[in-house]
Amino acid sequence: MLRVDSTLSQSCPPSSPLVVFAFEKSGLSVWPLFSSAPVVQAFAWAQKEGFEGKCGQNQLVHTPNKKIPRVVFIGLGPRKDATLETLRQGMASLVRLAERQSIKQLFTKLPLIGNAGGSAHAAAEGALLGAYAYTRYKTNSESKKAVESILVSVKNGAEKKTMDQGFARGLLFAEATNFARDLINQPPSDTTPSDLVSIAKTVAKKGIKLTVLNKQQMAKLGMGALLGVNRGSGKPPFFIHLIYRPNTKPKRRIALCGKGITFDSGGLSLKPAKSMETMKDDMSGAAAVLAIFALLPRLKPAVEIHGFAALTENMPGENALKPGDVLRSLQGKTIEVLNTDAEGRLILADTLAYACRQKPDEIIDVATLTGACRIALGDKIAALMGNNADLLQRLKNSSNDSGEKLWELPLEKEYRKGLDSKVADIKNIGPAGEAGTIMGGLFLSEFVERGLPWAHIDIANVAWTDEGTALSPAGGTGAMVRTLLHYLISLQ
Ligand code: BES
Ligand code: MN
Ligand code: ZN
Repeated sequence: MLRVDSTLSQSCPPSSPLVVFAFEKSGLSVWPLFSSAPVVQAFAWAQKEGFEGKCGQNQLVHTPNKKIPRVVFIGLGPRKDATLETLRQGMASLVRLAERQSIKQLFTKLPLIGNAGGSAHAAAEGALLGAYAYTRYKTNSESKKAVESILVSVKNGAEKKTMDQGFARGLLFAEATNFARDLINQPPSDTTPSDLVSIAKTVAKKGIKLTVLNKQQMAKLGMGALLGVNRGSGKPPFFIHLIYRPNTKPKRRIALCGKGITFDSGGLSLKPAKSMETMKDDMSGAAAVLAIFALLPRLKPAVEIHGFAALTENMPGENALKPGDVLRSLQGKTIEVLNTDAEGRLILADTLAYACRQKPDEIIDVATLTGACRIALGDKIAALMGNNADLLQRLKNSSNDSGEKLWELPLEKEYRKGLDSKVADIKNIGPAGEAGTIMGGLFLSEFVERGLPWAHIDIANVAWTDEGTALSPAGGTGAMVRTLLHYLISLQ
């Protein structure tokens, strides 16, 4: 796996290309190596080739100098606009360029944005996120070309220590995200509910407690909403409960709930073929929970954390749930199902009710819940909703740390009547085409115990990328893993 290490050395080994991060419309940085003659000359060449330091621009230059035979310029855009995200994206584009050129080692000095530790974290994270590829089903895997090491020159021992801690943590955050990506990208018939239970068991080997409920146990408890969704599937559902406990007595207990639909066909309210193409991503919430728990024993946050995920397919098999059916949820409310494709809220209703019974101090759910999310916020900003301003603010702060954008939508009480059912306590869809993401949030809020702080993150628009983004290749993105990790380590 890719390593990012610091070094007190100020000179570049000739076998490693020298990487120069350049801001737009500003010369080379004052670091002696960057202003040495061969680099200045290389910079002039790069500029001649059109390199201006714009964000996303990069240029490899071969020099006649034996000590510095290759220089890579990475554009970061205007200095005044630079954030940690700039650094993440710069590193990701560097790693991709190096892969194309079959470069295995790189040497650089990082521009610091804010403090050294945060910059180091972002840089290492960006590099490893950028290096991600899902190759499991490629018969001619090109993993041989992977970058092995990025060596970062630091100025003294104190900086080395902070930077090394930042690198280590950044790599861990990216590793967890990449783990979630693997689970999402894996074909849906190879990532069934029972496959995810196996993953949970592996995760639980290292100091994490795991309880798995099977179909009979769920029926006995009365998880009618979750079982309803499973009826059309030939594969049994599972419910997982993971627990992480810190070494010292925790002041807080956090519940994380993930939507775990391993494939969403829509059920009898069948999706069109095109919309189904990416529906293996409908377990992205559960993947985030599993990926976070896989890291907790190494990250050691100070709070107790419970992870929950209901796992099932949503299929139109012969026993499938029908529009018009009424389900009795674990929490007690009856639900009229008018669209079997609004299944996420059904399984989450029981997941949230189960989580509430564990008496956590707060609950956060992550779910690919509504296509409407993309209409509201496009493909770069996830939707945040909830009942507690303080919790929502803390999540916004964590999203600021991670660079994964969140925008709050209101849980408007006046819209609640849109979920009134003529035959049951609530129906699972609101008026067509109106505030779909909010309606999903309002529905979920009914299954959270009154007074318990709760936040809902709808990631339906960001969990998958068709084209790839600056930090993710096409496929599952592992959305919210890093934001939630930042959140968990921010708590005392
Ligand atoms: N899993 C989908 C939401 C989704 C859509 C995720 C597109 C990723 C991309 C969810 O189960 C769903 O089908 N929601 C319906 C709700 C509607 C029937 C109220 C939707 O968004 O169409
Ligand atoms: Mn659906
Ligand atoms: Zn779904």
